[in-house]
Amino acid sequence: MNRTTPLLVGSLLLMAGACSADELRDRANSIFKPIPEKITEVRGQKISDEQAILGHKLWFDPRLSRSHIISCNTCHNLSLGGGDNVTTSIGHGWQKGPRNSPTVLNAVLNAAQFWDGRAKDLQEQAKGPVQASVEMNNTPDRVVTTLKSIPEYVEEFQKAFPKDKDPVSFDNMAYALEAFEISLTTPNSPFDRFLKGEDKALDAEQKKGLALFMDAGCIACHNGVNVGGQGYFPFGLIKRPGADVLPEGDKGRFAVTNTASDEYVFRAAPLRNVALTPPYFHSGEVWDLKEAVAIMGNSQLGRDLKDDEVTAITAFLHSLTGDQPQVAYPVLPASTHSTPKPE
Ligand code: HEM
Ligand code: HEM
Repeated sequence: MNRTTPLLVGSLLLMAGACSADELRDRANSIFKPIPEKITEVRGQKISDEQAILGHKLWFDPRLSRSHIISCNTCHNLSLGGGDNVTTSIGHGWQKGPRNSPTVLNAVLNAAQFWDGRAKDLQEQAKGPVQASVEMNNTPDRVVTTLKSIPEYVEEFQKAFPKDKDPVSFDNMAYALEAFEISLTTPNSPFDRFLKGEDKALDAEQKKGLALFMDAGCIACHNGVNVGGQGYFPFGLIKRPGADVLPEGDKGRFAVTNTASDEYVFRAAPLRNVALTPPYFHSGEVWDLKEAVAIMGNSQLGRDLKDDEVTAITAFLHSLTGDQPQVAYPVLPASTHSTPKPE
């Protein structure tokens, strides 16, 4: 064998590696998209700085709740991947809600909000938790009275909604929250850097996992910019998981459409930052991401994924963790004597 052969073989192998990375990337780019660096508009309307700053305060303000101790951030903790890391959320009066709290990170990129997609956008969504008895248990009137009792808020609503005759409204509260939430994106994950051309952003195990995620059929439901969050599918399409994971009482989208074929149909969960947000599924009953992957293989694809396949897919899912938004804890304006008391 001449002395150049090992070199030649080495470079051929390198070329093969590079080629397959390119092929993998081309295929992945036809299915997924990187998270945009910044989002500045909602429904074609540019968000103003005043709206986003106001929304930032409202997000952390527990006085949106009847008890004055629960804020949006209680259940969507931005220090913990935008969820609460408990099985199902704890709300007003320590009540346990029926579902796990989904992350708010990149939620703006979902086709609709909630596990069953019942809110069309973040503005409509934000009115839900404030009023839900198991969450913040407040009323629109009481929230508006609270906000109007605080002069700094009145001034900030005027600046944020200068054309409105009565700017301190429940609708505008929700719009300001949305204006803040669009900043909660997580660009620059290893997966996104790979999509943009950085071969080494994913290690060999993650590349194997990405290929499997595409080949096994996960992409039928988890695709696009948020690797899910776009369509609705029966949980248990091929084989229904046990009632511990899929409780019988929660029929998902059926409650929204009242159509029999929507029983146990849920929005395919967006998988961005999924490694940060255990426990999994709307029931929050599965703590281990590997177990969640194995359940999906079984329930959605009718496939018992092998251990090494589950491990590789899980490694790929870890590459979906992006730069977390750096959000300062805001100083909130003080209550006045006319602010309703906590109940
Ligand atoms: C769902 C925002 C307060 C628990 C969501 C979603 C968003 C959101 C955007 C949908 C995410 C998605 O579908 O991917 C907010 C805002 C809040 C707030 C702006 C404050 C006004 C709370 C609180 C709790 C909570 C205080 C817990 C007590 C949940 C749960 C869901 C959810 C359990 C899923 C409910 C379902 O699918 O039926 N929230 N949230 N949220 N949030 Fe909140
Ligand atoms: C939820 C991964 C295939 C539809 C999830 C979750 C993970 C996951 C980790 C939980 C996310 C969370 O709780 O935040 C996978 C993998 C798949 C796969 C690795 C391939 C092996 C599919 C397919 C479909 C699907 C093919 C549609 C037929 C859903 C739905 C949910 C979900 C509807 C939400 C379930 C719920 O309501 O709790 N997936 N998935 N998945 N996936 Fe998949």
